[in-house]
Amino acid sequence: MGLKIGAIASGGGSNLQSILEACKDGRIDGEVLVVLSDNPQAYALERAKKAGVPTAVVELNRDGSREDHDIKVVAALKEYGVDTVVLAGYMLMVTKVLLDAFPDRVINIHPALLPSFPGLHVQQAAIDYGAKFSGCTVHFVDEDMDSGPIIIQAVVPILDDDTAETLGGRILKEEHRIYPQALQYLAEGRLKIVGRRVLLDPASPGSGTLHNPSVSF
Ligand code: GAR
Repeated sequence: MGLKIGAIASGGGSNLQSILEACKDGRIDGEVLVVLSDNPQAYALERAKKAGVPTAVVELNRDGSREDHDIKVVAALKEYGVDTVVLAGYMLMVTKVLLDAFPDRVINIHPALLPSFPGLHVQQAAIDYGAKFSGCTVHFVDEDMDSGPIIIQAVVPILDDDTAETLGGRILKEEHRIYPQALQYLAEGRLKIVGRRVLLDPASPGSGTLHNPSVSF
């Protein structure tokens, strides 16, 4: 078996769905062994159940530390033999406890072109800033927010009449492509972390320069 994936999701889980489907049809050499959530109402848990994948809920104890929370998360993931942790719309910061338990094996997706627009509500932030492009980023997770080495990015143009919802919808479509791709690169053993850079071996450069609006010169 390839990647032994534990997915952690707080919400709807459309990225989880794209990963479940890619595992099922063989585009990802791996299997989702458990889906964990901090939110018992997360629709991601329903998606897991429909796919026949076990679920676990670890709710945040407001009186406890984040490290205590991650001790429980790690225990649940280890119980299922997970070796790769995939954050799929997980809205809590992870701590060193989780990162040390799965070194260089915790991955996240973020709906902006990092390092621009880390944090929350980033589709609106990119529109408000006047950026002409946004997109999405799959990256290894480190102890800071949305800051670890970048594996793959997709660029999505921001249109003049975009709202956070329309832009977010187009970004999400790309998320569903690049997250499974990043995981398959990992499964193939092709990702090498060199400082802040993640190199793909053999290399596979993507598309060329993009302009928005168009350039006729
Ligand atoms: C996705 O856009 C994901 O990039 C974002 O939450 C959404 C979850 O959608 N994640 C973050 O903002 C992480 N800070 P989903 O539940 O349908 O996959």
